[in-house]
Amino acid sequence: MIIDILTLFPNMFENFLNESIIKRAISNNFVKINIHNIRDYSEYNNKQVDDTPYGGGSGMVLMCDPIFKAVEALKKDDTKVIMMTPQGYKYNQTKAYELSKLKHIIIICGHYEGFDERILSIVDLELSIGDYVLTGGEIPSMVVTDSVVRLIDGVINKDSHLNDSFNDKLLDYPTYTKPRVYKGMEVPEVLLSGHHANITKWRNEERIKKTKEKRPDLMEG
Ligand code: ADE
Repeated sequence: MIIDILTLFPNMFENFLNESIIKRAISNNFVKINIHNIRDYSEYNNKQVDDTPYGGGSGMVLMCDPIFKAVEALKKDDTKVIMMTPQGYKYNQTKAYELSKLKHIIIICGHYEGFDERILSIVDLELSIGDYVLTGGEIPSMVVTDSVVRLIDGVINKDSHLNDSFNDKLLDYPTYTKPRVYKGMEVPEVLLSGHHANITKWRNEERIKKTKEKRPDLMEG
């Protein structure tokens, strides 16, 4: 899979690409992640990329041309173009699975003060990572990239995401490690029993209990 990310702040991605599972997925060739500075595609004076909004209002708006040029340069036949914006469809694990099956995605990081609406004419999917507003689409693009890359076949052990929260509309079960007792808090007895059927049953019950308490909306859909 190839992920091309268009951003005004390429430095924000340095640590993200050079740590942990993402780093390993890149070096093992499961994914190629390219960071592109939108400014490099500007043909305006001083590499301009934004301008004041028509109709007035505060802030600067991301211009069409640098984005159109970048997408034209990078797009192939099977590319999905994604725009990160708080106005997008809400991102979730199901979307992450869908995206993890694709060959090539371009992710455009929206600008904190908005972008020219005509950019959407070359976008296949607008995504929001939640009902809050960040200063730009960079962190949201990392959220999407991280959640997609870990689902690419071979990147992590399949068992590790089989029981992920959300896979079957339930949150994940609680886990514990050593020591058995910490500050008076004990690991549930069943986990020490070695009785696999009972452990599975307990975990399923805990998933349902947790979900009912914290995210009943997941069970309704
Ligand atoms: N840009 C700013 N806030 C965002 C959000 N919640 N989701 C996606 N992109 C964003």
